[in-house]
Amino acid sequence: MGMDEIIRLALERGFFFPSAEIYPKTPAGLWDYGHLGVLLKQKYIQAWIREVVRRDEMILVDGSQILPRDVFVASGHLESFADPVSTCLKCRAIHRVDRLVEEVAGIKVPERTPPEQITALIREHNVRCPSCGGELGEVSLFNMMFRLSVGASGDEAYLRPETCQNLFIDFPRIYKISRRKLPVGFAQVGKSFRNEISPRQSLTRLREFYQAEVEVFFNPAKANELEKFESFRSYPLRLYFDDRMHVITCGEAVESGIVSSRLAAYYLALIQSFYLKLGIPEEKLRIRRLLEDEKAFYAVEAWDLEVLTSIGWMELVACNNRGDYDLSGHARVSRADMQVFEDGEKFTPHVFELSMGVDRSILALLDLGYRVENGRTVLKLHPALAPYSAAVFPLVDKPELVSKARELYESLKLDMDVFYDESGSIGRRYRRQDEIGTPFCITIDHQTLEDNTATIRDRDSMQQVRLPIPEIPNYLSKKTKL
Ligand code: GLY
Repeated sequence: MGMDEIIRLALERGFFFPSAEIYPKTPAGLWDYGHLGVLLKQKYIQAWIREVVRRDEMILVDGSQILPRDVFVASGHLESFADPVSTCLKCRAIHRVDRLVEEVAGIKVPERTPPEQITALIREHNVRCPSCGGELGEVSLFNMMFRLSVGASGDEAYLRPETCQNLFIDFPRIYKISRRKLPVGFAQVGKSFRNEISPRQSLTRLREFYQAEVEVFFNPAKANELEKFESFRSYPLRLYFDDRMHVITCGEAVESGIVSSRLAAYYLALIQSFYLKLGIPEEKLRIRRLLEDEKAFYAVEAWDLEVLTSIGWMELVACNNRGDYDLSGHARVSRADMQVFEDGEKFTPHVFELSMGVDRSILALLDLGYRVENGRTVLKLHPALAPYSAAVFPLVDKPELVSKARELYESLKLDMDVFYDESGSIGRRYRRQDEIGTPFCITIDHQTLEDNTATIRDRDSMQQVRLPIPEIPNYLSKKTKL
């Protein structure tokens, strides 16, 4: 199924839709989640907490989205978090021009190419305004942070462009409270904000979006002394570099120097195994090494976990070795002590980051999960992620079946997301649930009244089993576990 069809289904079923759509002047890149989307997002985040945060014994933080100017002086975002833009001299439309030059001239424009060089490329390759064909003006840099003025005094602040800055500035306090030795991961899920020049299709490039970020603080001298690495030593990483796939074990990746350390390989394996567990097919997942000119300004080593969707490879997680860039920057600007003292040594910890786009991950799961099979549209999400774990139906609209079905629904609804439906034929009700990914449909029929059993239909196999009603809650909670 193509992405347009998936977005149409998501809109129709209310997974997500454009924000403030009744107002035509609403900026692009702002989307709302409807009920099904909220349930899916919550389950996705719970899966991440289980499989990444708890598994690795990380520490959770929930930081402020508004942060003062100095944070972004220290982080480098005020200076470097900018895209090159140019205004059309004829129609005044503003365009992001690095991508435009790439598309029109077929040449690569590396990150951080100076604006005057991009202007020269525009002239050399006669790149024109894509809206009207007019001449493009001089290129300048446009900072992508949303600037705020806080309180009556109008103090300068910004909406965070990445959630992880809280984890860096909170580091000294949380490290102290945690009484943990490095390496230790801090994790946060929350919103980030980027004033994108050209937001892209639906959830792929938003101006306001959810990130689930992990920052692992470690002693750089001990990046290869990680006991837990042994659990992943023979785990096959799906790495992409030198223009091809290499499926190599974590052990080989470190020994050959492809991945910088055992610590980096361990976290690449942790995040890969998370996505595979959610049901992403192996052949549709790769961890791509970024080229020098693709890396973010703070990264010394960068890998992108990408998934193959109907619109091509989509980056879901940026895996960056940020070195001591962030803690040293904040120490310099704030004058706070960001160092730690461990094993007789005082040092500034380095950071390995797993920066996950939650919205994109959800879009990728919908893209990979939706299919039409023998005329049936079905969303094959992992049962742990499905918005509703189960639906309950009376076979027909008879009072004794309806009341038994409602009784079962009421007994389940506080402990899981479950849907009740008595309208239309049973076949139509199954199909409605198939389309939104409900893994189990429970039907109360005439036999239920005799022996207190009900049928449970499996979304994927369409097979039914019959179980005593008291066994159903246990059955569902087992089957919807990750
Ligand atoms: N923290 C990395 C990013 O937001 O891309």
